[in-house]
This record gives sequence, C-alpha cells and structure tokens, in this order.
Amino acid sequence: MSINIIPKPNHIILKDGVFNLNKSTKICFEDEIKPVIRFLKQYLNEASNLELQITNEPVENNVIRLSLNDAVVNLGKEGYKLSITHSRIQMEAMTLQGMFYSIQTLRQIVNDNPNELPCVEIEDKPRYEYRGYMLDVCRHFFDKKVVKRMIDLAALHKLNIFHWHLTEDQGFRVEIEKYKKLTEIGSKRKETIIGGKSDNMPHGGYYTASDIKEIVDYANERYITIIPEFDMPGHFLAVLASYPELSCSGKQLEVGTKFGVIKDIACAGKESTYEFIFDVLGEIIELFPGELIHIGGDEVPKEQWIECPHCQNKIKEEKLKNEEELQGYFTNRIAKFLKERNKRAITWNDALKSGNLHESVVVQHWLDGDNHKNTVKAINENRKVIMSDVHHVYLDYPYGLTPLKKTYEYKPVSEVIQKDKEKNILGVEAPLWTEYVKDLERIDYLTFPRLSALSELGWTDEKHKNYNDFTTRLKSLNKLLDKLGVNYATRSQADVKGLKAKIEVYKHVKQVDNLLSVIRQLFINNK
Ligand code: ACM
Ligand code: ZN
Repeated sequence: MSINIIPKPNHIILKDGVFNLNKSTKICFEDEIKPVIRFLKQYLNEASNLELQITNEPVENNVIRLSLNDAVVNLGKEGYKLSITHSRIQMEAMTLQGMFYSIQTLRQIVNDNPNELPCVEIEDKPRYEYRGYMLDVCRHFFDKKVVKRMIDLAALHKLNIFHWHLTEDQGFRVEIEKYKKLTEIGSKRKETIIGGKSDNMPHGGYYTASDIKEIVDYANERYITIIPEFDMPGHFLAVLASYPELSCSGKQLEVGTKFGVIKDIACAGKESTYEFIFDVLGEIIELFPGELIHIGGDEVPKEQWIECPHCQNKIKEEKLKNEEELQGYFTNRIAKFLKERNKRAITWNDALKSGNLHESVVVQHWLDGDNHKNTVKAINENRKVIMSDVHHVYLDYPYGLTPLKKTYEYKPVSEVIQKDKEKNILGVEAPLWTEYVKDLERIDYLTFPRLSALSELGWTDEKHKNYNDFTTRLKSLNKLLDKLGVNYATRSQADVKGLKAKIEVYKHVKQVDNLLSVIRQLFINNK
C-alpha cells in the first residue's frame, strides 16, 4: 500500500494494517468543527459513495473523530495531525483551517483507497504562509462558476490565496458604484486583434458587488483569501477609455483590442488621478476583507510622463529625480492610503526600479533582469516578497517552454539570498494570464499539473521534495481530477521534449503579436 498526497505532507509514517471505511463508520466531532464537516461528508461521499452518520456518543471503534486541540500548537495555525489506525481515524488541528487541510488530505487518501485506508501517522504544516493562484479575468472574462471552480481546485491543493487580476487595458471587470462608466464602457472591447487580424467579436463582462460578495464568501469557506488587483499606473487603458481626463493627454481612447505593453497610462501629475484611485480603492476594500490589495505597477512605459507638464511639475514639486521615482511616489501615495485603512499594498517587482518604494509595500517577483538583482536586494533588505518567477511558475506558457519538471524544481530561495533573510519570502504564486486562453478547457490544461507542482513548492520542505516521487503521486491525484472533470495535461504532454516541444512553442509564438519580443523573452532571457 502507498499513500499519495499532493502537496506531500512534511511528516508521514506509513504503518501496517488498514481502517475499514463502511456504512457503519460514524463521524464524531465537537460543535466548533461544524463549519468544515460538510466538506468531509461531501468528499467521503464522492470517493466512496457512503453517507456517513454523525454521532455525539463517545464511540471508540469505527469512528472518524475530529477535534480542535491545543496539543498540536507546534504545527501552527495551518497544521494538522491525522492518524489512521485499524479502529479509528483521528484528526486534530489548532484551527478550522488546519482541520480543513486534514480533510483535504483524508479526501486524497480515500480517493485512492475508497474502503481500506492504510494506517498512517501524519503531522503536517506548510513551508510558506502564502500559497497562491492568480487568474486574469480581463484578457478573457470568466464567469462566477469558473472562478468558484478554480477556488475549489486551489483548496484541494491547500492553497490559501486567490489573486484576482480584475483590471487591464482590455477590460475593467468590477462594478464601481461611483464610476459606472468603468463597467458601462470599460468592461467591453469591440474586437480582439491578434497578429494584425481582428476576430470581429465584441468581448465583455464584469462582476457586480453581489457577485463579488458571493465569491469572497465561497473562498472564505475554503480558507482562501482573495487578493483583488487594480493594476496601475500602466495596464490602465480600460479606465482611460471610460474617463479620458485621467491620462496625460486627456484624449479619447478605446478599450484595448491588442495585447502587449500600451503606452497610454494614468497621469501621475494630476491630483484628480489620485482622487479617482482613492475612490475606486475605497469601494474595492469594502468588497474584499483581506489585508493585501494588489496595485499592479508592472510594465509602465514612461514616454507620456516625460512629455506631460503635469507629471513634470509633480517631479519638480516633490523633488524627484526622474520618472522612475515618480512611479515610486505614485505607488507610495496609494500604499499610504491603503495603510491608513489597515490594508497593505502589493506591487509587481517593476516598482522596485524607482528606488524609493516604501518599505511596507510587498513585492511580487516575476521578471527582473540581471539575475533578479532588484528582487534579491529587496529580500536581503528585509522587504516581504512573493515569488512568481516568469520562467518557472507562469502558467500561460506552453509546456514546451515551461515543462512540469521545471516548475517543480523551481527554487524560490536562491543561494544569493542571505540565510537569515529567507524569512522575507512570504511564499509562491502561479499566475495564469489569459491573452490566449479563451475557455475552461484551456485554463485546465495550462493550470494542471503545474499548479499541483506549485502547491508542493508552497507546502513541502525542500528536503522532502522529489520529482519522481511527485509524478507517482500525481497519478492518484489525476484520478480525482478525472472525477472532477478537469482537463489536465497528461504527464507526457506536461514534460514534452525535443521536436514536439519545439512545435508547441512555435505554435504559441505564432499566435502572439510581437514575435520578436516574445522570442527574446522566451529564449534569450530564459535562465
Ligand atoms: C506581468 O506578467 N506583467 C506581471
Ligand atoms: Zn501626466
């Protein structure tokens, strides 16, 4: 018998014997466990077809017993202890979140062995406090059902963050009470142009405040915090199409129809830009109870700021050196607004280039040339950082470029990070950008199994990781994903090599607008 759990538990001892799960098995728990019991019942029912009964009697045998217990304090707030003997299953955790993870572990064990569960002793807790998945719903819009499904699949992997990329050049996807045009105009584009060719198809969609509340509650029940992203000052075209006065030139623009980096950005010189952003963020923070709010900061071309009298005036007034420092000033003002409301800003690592980014701002690493010099320096200077390296954990690249093994073997902690600074890495996140992802089938294919690998980067200590062992366990997980209707890439698709890999990359590159820049990024920069 073997036990196949992803992410791999950090302490696991397989014992002799089995526990027979049958229709007489009872579930026994204290009242405080109630919020997670329905998940246990649902998962056991899915795996073994049993409708187990609940009991308050002190049953000794053939029982699944759950208790919140300070005795496992050493496993922290996300840890749990799960022990299976021939007579009982005992689940202990300090918090409901830890208990929820023990239920996810039991779900995988039962899925593998529906009636005879191997006896085992598991004491488990995560390596990192931040384990995330990001979905871009702007390049292509995905409805509530898809979002909830991805939250469920993230929960199966013991992820605790869903980063929701909600605003972009090509669409603004959250209804804002004070600025209705953001969705009336900004949520729709008239066509999508790829490689100079239009699809002649309008595309749009957005979430109302009530949709968002529903999804936030859904995630919360699964111990997942949602981090909304309002990307600024770049990737701002859908806002500018709705409120043109917020750009440097003020001229009328359209919601983006092409992908890539767009030079029309928010004017950082006009006070009205800040007032607008504060109003919008004021509404966003009412919708999302989590502490972290992502404010983008990636890919900000500075041409328009160089030409703009408002921006140049701001640089003089604030005694800034240049346009990079203006981005730092802009970001710091937004971060201060959030901090005063007990929130904390995250930006992509591009914002580090300003050199004056406030120390409270969390940085998400994705692409940072010169051996990640800025990111490494930031970590060594005690900035909190999330690792999402573009060449390892970005899910939008074909497997020919980012095979499963490469994702699995990513080391968020490199040797250039000082030992005592490793604690500044909060964790890892895998983003899925959707320029070329139009449907759920493609979301699934690109996400799995790479998200399974990412979950292990976030949860399992380096010393317990092993790629061959992971791929063996993946076979069991994939059986569960089959039942859930997930269109994952198979092992041979995910570890594609040789000519097949080259063909896959060629097909991908062919559909991307700026062929040269893609080739440069993918082949030359691919360290
Ligand atoms: C990014 O991929 N532009 C953060
Ligand atoms: Zn300006």
